[in-house]
Amino acid sequence: MSRWLHRKPIGIEGLEAHHRLTPTLSWWHLVALGVGAIVGTGIYTLVGVGANLAGPAVMLSFLIAGAICACAALAYAEVATMIPASGSAYTYSYTVLGEIFAWVVGWSLILEYSLVVSTVAVGWSGYAAGFMASLGHPLPQALVAGPHAGGMFNLPALLIIAVVTGMLSLGTKESATVNAALVLVKMAALAIFVAVGLPHFDARHFTPFMPHGFAAHGVDGVQYGVMGAAAIIFFAFYGFDAISTAAEETKNPSRDLPIGIVGSMLVCALVYVGVAAVAVGSMDYTIYAKSAEPLALILRSLGAGGVAAIIGAAAVIALPTVILAFLYGQSRIFFVMARDGLLPQALAKVSPRTGTPVRITVLTAVVVSVLAGLVPLDEIAALANAGTLVAFIAVSACMLVMRRREPERARVFRTPLAWLVGPAAILGCLYLFWSLPERTHHFFFLWNLAGIVLYLIWSRRRG
Ligand code: ALA
Repeated sequence: MSRWLHRKPIGIEGLEAHHRLTPTLSWWHLVALGVGAIVGTGIYTLVGVGANLAGPAVMLSFLIAGAICACAALAYAEVATMIPASGSAYTYSYTVLGEIFAWVVGWSLILEYSLVVSTVAVGWSGYAAGFMASLGHPLPQALVAGPHAGGMFNLPALLIIAVVTGMLSLGTKESATVNAALVLVKMAALAIFVAVGLPHFDARHFTPFMPHGFAAHGVDGVQYGVMGAAAIIFFAFYGFDAISTAAEETKNPSRDLPIGIVGSMLVCALVYVGVAAVAVGSMDYTIYAKSAEPLALILRSLGAGGVAAIIGAAAVIALPTVILAFLYGQSRIFFVMARDGLLPQALAKVSPRTGTPVRITVLTAVVVSVLAGLVPLDEIAALANAGTLVAFIAVSACMLVMRRREPERARVFRTPLAWLVGPAAILGCLYLFWSLPERTHHFFFLWNLAGIVLYLIWSRRRG
C-alpha cells in the first residue's frame, strides 16, 4: 500500500498503559467542559453578524447549524470512544482513512484552532471596550478595531491572546472546577439576557422574516441569506470535541463521553435558540446587526444599562476560557502530528518545566494576534469554520467507513440511525462549506495547497 494511504493501528492500549491518568470526571464535568469550550463569541457576538446576513430568520440559521452539528456530534461520540487517543479528528482520520487524509485534516485543524483563538479574542475585545465605556473610560477607536472598521489595530484582542498564551506557557490548564464556575457565569449572563429581553418581545419584529432569502448569495463578497448566516453561525456550536481529550480521565467513558458530547451540544442549541429569539423579538435587528457587542447593546437600548454592564463583565471574565481551550488544543494537534513524524519534532518540543510546547504556542499566538488585530471578525470566523467543516466531514466519514469495514468491532457508543445521521452530517457540512464566502473558499484551498506541497517535500525528506 502506498505510504500516503498508510493507516495507524487502532491499538492504543499500549499507549494508554504508559500514561494512565486517574479517572475522576463524571458526565456533568464533561458537559461543563463541553459547554465551556462551546459558548463564546458565536452567541455573544456572531448573533449580530448572523442577523445582518439573514434578518430575523437568523433563528432558522441557528436551527440548521445546530442540527448539522448534532449529527456530527453523534458520529464524533462513536469514533471518539472507539479511538480514544489524542489528536481528535486528525488521529481518527489517520487510523481509518490513511496518512494523506490525516494530513489534510490536521492541516485544517491547525487553521481552525488558530483562527478560533483570533475570532474569540476579537469578540472579547468588543465586550471589553463596551464594558470600559460603560465605566466611563472609553478606549480610542483607533486601538479597538482594525483598518476595515476605521481603526488601526485591535489592541485588546492582542492583549488577551498574550495573557492566555502566558498562562498556557506557564503550564496552566484550567481545572474542571474553575471551568465549571466560568460556565455558570457565561450561562447565567445569557439567562439574564433572556429574562430582561423577553418582556419586550414583539412578534412584529419577525416580519419580514427572510429579507435576504434562504440560499446563500454573494453581494460584495458577503454571503447573505439563511444559509450564508448558518455557515457563519456554525462557529457558535463547535468546541464539543474538547471533551474527547478527557477520555482517559473519565470514570465511565462508555456512558459519560456520549452524554458529554451530545448533552453539551443540546444544552447550547437550546440556549442559543432562546437567546436568538429574544434578540430578534425585542428590537429591529438592524440596530445591533453591526455591533461588536450586540447583546449588551440590545439591553442598553431597552433601557437596562446596568444589566448590559453585567453581561459585558461576564463575557470579559468567561470568554478567555474558549481561547485557552483552543490554544491548548492547537498545541496538542501539533504535538501529535510531530510525534507521528508529519511535522518537525523541534517545532512541537515540549518544555520539560511546564509540559507545554512553548515554541509552537508562542508562534501561533503571534500569528493569530496579527490576524485578530487587523482582519474583520466575520472573515476570520468563516475561515475557522471551513477548517472545522472539513474535520467534521472526515469524522463522519470515519464513522461510516468503520461501520462497513469492521462491523463487529465493539463500540462503546453507537450512533443511532448511523446511515441516516452520518450522510446527513457530511452533506450538511458540505452545504455549509459551499455557503461560505468565495474569498474563504479561495484562501482555504490555497492553505491546503500549501499544506500538500509541504507534505510532499516533508515525506520525501523522511524517505
Ligand atoms: N463555539 C465557540 C465560540 O462560539 C468557538 O466561541
